[in-house]
Amino acid sequence: MYLTPEEEKLFNGERGPTYQKAIEILVALGDIYEADRLIPIKSAQIAGVSYKTIGDAGLEWISDLKGKVAVPSILNPAGMDLECWKEMGISEDFAQKQEKIIQAYSALGVRIECSCTPYNIFDNLADFGDHVAWSESSAISYANSVIGARTNREGGPSALAAALIGKTPNYGFHLDENRKPVISIIVEAKLHDSDYGALGYIVGEMVGDKVPLFKLKSKPSKDELKSLGAAMAASGAVALYHVSGTTPEAGKYEAPKEKITIEESQIKEVYSKGEPDLIAFGCPHSSVSELERLAQLLNGKKVKKEVWICTSRAIKKNNPELIKRIEKSGAKVFCDTCMVVSPASERFTCMMVNSGKAHKYVPNLCGIKSILGRTEDCIEAAMRG
Ligand code: F3S
Repeated sequence: MYLTPEEEKLFNGERGPTYQKAIEILVALGDIYEADRLIPIKSAQIAGVSYKTIGDAGLEWISDLKGKVAVPSILNPAGMDLECWKEMGISEDFAQKQEKIIQAYSALGVRIECSCTPYNIFDNLADFGDHVAWSESSAISYANSVIGARTNREGGPSALAAALIGKTPNYGFHLDENRKPVISIIVEAKLHDSDYGALGYIVGEMVGDKVPLFKLKSKPSKDELKSLGAAMAASGAVALYHVSGTTPEAGKYEAPKEKITIEESQIKEVYSKGEPDLIAFGCPHSSVSELERLAQLLNGKKVKKEVWICTSRAIKKNNPELIKRIEKSGAKVFCDTCMVVSPASERFTCMMVNSGKAHKYVPNLCGIKSILGRTEDCIEAAMRG
């Protein structure tokens, strides 16, 4: 891979070991995937934040780095609400370690916004055609598919390396030829709400890391696209998808000949029954319109079970009245974290979610049973004693 004289200097350690380590990561990736050069990025979104997932080794790695990020950079959800962690049932020990991780990122100049929906917080992180280095799988999918920005499936270390250097190797989804759909998905059902997560749950398993082009009978909202992409990235490894007549690059392509048809009965099969002791919303982090809908569904009611709603701190801070309306019902709104990456959900036995992605991850990552329901059904379950 070609390096400019300036990049060569970083590679040779002239700006110290942190930048040297960072560019070594980028060059190693570039060499593996045959990138021709490094290209500038507009932003980075860095996973590897929860102490639950990175542990002491991760904390040590980040703490050893000395430098400043070169582009706007934001974090993925941490293992706890950074303010209300006691209310979540997080231990002092975990909270201290988590706090150290956050401080280490902060010292590198990373913004302490811990969210998997950075596009709902800042509108200058990624626009159509921008190159970025994002690493949370649903955020990657949203950036590529819904915004039309360009990112590979970065890991935490490679996104941090890209943030420090301000560049990423030019391969994969940064190149036009890899953004073309290779399989058509024809959906024979009108979808709404969690159906998109259920669809993603099925399709991800079927297509793996291929780029699908959907033909849908209903027009998804941005929140529904967010759910679809998140579930496909969890059950498979889909980093980019197109929806005919909806996503920004879909019109450029012919429908691929290879096709899969999804029937309504297949979507229904993903839903499950059971009695949860925790009901959790906000995977990916709830948008303002999703919070508004939850506030309407909870209006005048009192929840009889533990209900968590996960969102970003910025959204919580900017919508105090909305949050008050939700909290009046007894539901708890947590920020900076989520039901999957926090250890707090492990003390329950069964979690009900309206998210295909959470439904996929909860059994393995939290070690508890998961039930997928529509949003209204989740609220109904919360009302049962
Ligand atoms: Fe976000 Fe956590 Fe889901 S990071 S996409 S809310 S698993």
